[in-house]
Amino acid sequence: MTLTELMETLPYGPAPEAAQSALDWIQAHKGRFQLFIAGRWRKPASQEWFTTLNPANSQPLAEVAQASAADVDEAVKAARKAFASWSQTKGHVRARYLYAMARQIQKHARLFAVLETLDNGKPIRETRDIDIPLVARHFYYHAGWAQLMESELAGYGPVGVVGQIIPWNFPLLMLAWKIAPALAMGNTVVLKPAEFTPLTALLFAEICQQIGLPPGVVNIITGDGKTGAALVEHPGVDKIAFTGSTEVGRLIRKATAGSGKKLSLELGGKSPFVVFEDADLDSAVEGVVDAIWFNQGQVCCAGSRLLVQESIAEKMYAKLRARMEKLRVGDPLDKAVDIGAIIAPVQLQKIQRLVQKGVEEGARLWQPSWAVPAEGCFYPPTLFTDVAPASTIAQEEIFGPVLAALTFRTPEEAVRLANNTRYGLAASIWSEDINLALDVATQIKAGTIWINSTNLFDAASGFGGYRESGFGREGGKEGLWEYVKKTARAPRAKAVAGKTRAAQPAPAVPPIDRTAKLFIGGKQVRPDSGYSKVVYDPDRHPIGEVGLGNRKDIRNAVEAARGAFESWRKTSGHNKAQILYFLAENLSERAEEFARRIAQQTGQDGAAEVEAALEALFTAAAWADKYEGVVHNTPIRNVTLAVPEPIGVMGILCPDDQPLLALARLAATALAMGNTLVVVPSPLAPLTATDFYQVLETSDIPAGTFNLVTGERDELAKTLAEHDDVDALWYAGPQAGWALVEKASAGNMKRTWTLPASGPLPDLDETLRQATQVKNIWVPYGA
Ligand code: NAI
Ligand code: MG
Repeated sequence: MTLTELMETLPYGPAPEAAQSALDWIQAHKGRFQLFIAGRWRKPASQEWFTTLNPANSQPLAEVAQASAADVDEAVKAARKAFASWSQTKGHVRARYLYAMARQIQKHARLFAVLETLDNGKPIRETRDIDIPLVARHFYYHAGWAQLMESELAGYGPVGVVGQIIPWNFPLLMLAWKIAPALAMGNTVVLKPAEFTPLTALLFAEICQQIGLPPGVVNIITGDGKTGAALVEHPGVDKIAFTGSTEVGRLIRKATAGSGKKLSLELGGKSPFVVFEDADLDSAVEGVVDAIWFNQGQVCCAGSRLLVQESIAEKMYAKLRARMEKLRVGDPLDKAVDIGAIIAPVQLQKIQRLVQKGVEEGARLWQPSWAVPAEGCFYPPTLFTDVAPASTIAQEEIFGPVLAALTFRTPEEAVRLANNTRYGLAASIWSEDINLALDVATQIKAGTIWINSTNLFDAASGFGGYRESGFGREGGKEGLWEYVKKTARAPRAKAVAGKTRAAQPAPAVPPIDRTAKLFIGGKQVRPDSGYSKVVYDPDRHPIGEVGLGNRKDIRNAVEAARGAFESWRKTSGHNKAQILYFLAENLSERAEEFARRIAQQTGQDGAAEVEAALEALFTAAAWADKYEGVVHNTPIRNVTLAVPEPIGVMGILCPDDQPLLALARLAATALAMGNTLVVVPSPLAPLTATDFYQVLETSDIPAGTFNLVTGERDELAKTLAEHDDVDALWYAGPQAGWALVEKASAGNMKRTWTLPASGPLPDLDETLRQATQVKNIWVPYGA
């Protein structure tokens, strides 16, 4: 090749990163790793081992222990033992340990990066410049929260022993996302890395030893799904945090249902990448590269659906194909490689199968002219155009370097297409018009929105899903709530005296003439079943009748709530507050009647409860325009807006005590946050709720916003839990019912909140959080 030719083509020469130090580290362990339990290395009770490979050349790297249920038990015991003192360790001391972890990771950054690339197959450019720096950042950031916990999370303490199960796509980064907040809040952990990528977690275990972390605070157990399942089922675990496939997430939701274990799930996605005609197209093309070819597309929030405005679609595709032709796939240790190896043959086959399906379903396939290396696990960047919105490749998570492109004409259509998925993890929006971009950002149902950017992550920003992408957040202050629970209860405002009915004697001849109806879509309706049931007072005297609602009534109520949601969501906080104040005003007009009714049903002091309920309505109204988000301090020229949003259609099954206060505290708070509701009153005191809809009718609550169905609690709860158009469910009732609703809600992965049938109502801060989900909107700037 002449010098001139060389100057014209500028071919890349190999620029490999040396692997020796990582291989030496493996060798120092004689190529075989035990379990890290109570600060020591232990042989697995099973005496079983498995091999982890380098996906770039299919060569074995090391043997790793397969933890059995007995080993899981040992690890949980060690974590429990350590919890006693770790939970009492001062925040400042915990901060020092987290700080030490961050420092050690930085000091050994290249070793971690190379080891990660060897075990996972992702390009060294990514492990070196993205994964490992973010890991260190995560530990630093959470060292700060450990330091601040006492003042900023007053009244909260750790949950206990946390079981953490992570996937193979960002092995060390997911470890950091899990371990840093858990330890910061005073929990101890048992973490199971993915079976394809255990090595960096084991190197991290050594760091725990080096910094003198007390034994048992962090335990690392390797193994496959069986090990994960044993951890999930272990009764000594107080919380499970999982990242991985929606299928396994669903299994875990069912396995933990009713156990009282706290749960957070970060699952799959099919995130839209929306390009409007006024976007900076060259930037958008680079964005696509980061969105779908970062980490070979094996990213839960990968921008795997390109939605492009019709007027610029062909131009965008042409630029994209030209860019794809120049991407380099190959040895992940080569510093000039863009796309590395796919994690394993099974994943490669899944990609191939779904691409084949795309072709069969009529989409147009395009791949670059060059071939990927024959040895190892590689797949070329792939573009599908002419993709039908309902086709498999537009709906299913491929988890590979495959992009499905669809076109739209108007912003409304873009939003509809973007939301045409069961997932809701992330979205990327490209437009030079900030009005349009932010308007669309508020309408896309996803936990993270990037404007003119994509795949930005930081410890200060929360990350997590809407819908079937899971629930819970990692990062930001919002992520801390997953790892704490209330320690001290705030004194109850205006405690309702647990007195007798003497205060408000029930009328001697109770009225049984009026049969209450259901309240659906702003109208009083008779139950579909045509049955009513008698309501009794605590002495078993009949005091009225309510309709016996069934599945059909619930379906109608959900439909009404769904229909009302968009406009209620968009109603300003100020107007929502006005409506709630008006409701309080109308309720106070009828205070005596309500007080009598409460006393009659519960034998408690009705007047005090009405007072408390009025105050609770005022509180809900007050929060309607004050429950604000924050601007996260992410370290680029950027504002990251953490915005609390309503969850959507919520089912609320009310507790038995304080029927009016429960409505005011639970339902009104949920309404204030912009949700629309299907409320099922307690079977013991439903008449307060049926009286309440009459107050609603005279207030300005829009039809369908608040719907009421009376009937058998668990039957209606099950229907609500199974309903795919219900986004969240609050269930107050007996403990057996908790398992029922948690299990039945796994279908669409709705958020559930289970509460005791009676006793004090939950605190307001928790109620507000349960009524909202945080969306993080990243808006980079720079002229
Ligand atoms: P997976 O969900 O099976 O694995 C994730 C983790 O869960 C691993 O540590 C695994 O050992 C563990 N696990 C598996 N079965 C379990 C069980 N029954 N109970 C408890 N833990 C269990 O994911 P897999 O099989 O590696 O990948 C399959 C598909 O999942 C991918 O093609 C991709 O579509 C999706 N996926 C999504 C991820 C995300 O970040 N959203 C990450 C990894 C996979
Ligand atoms: Mg491996």
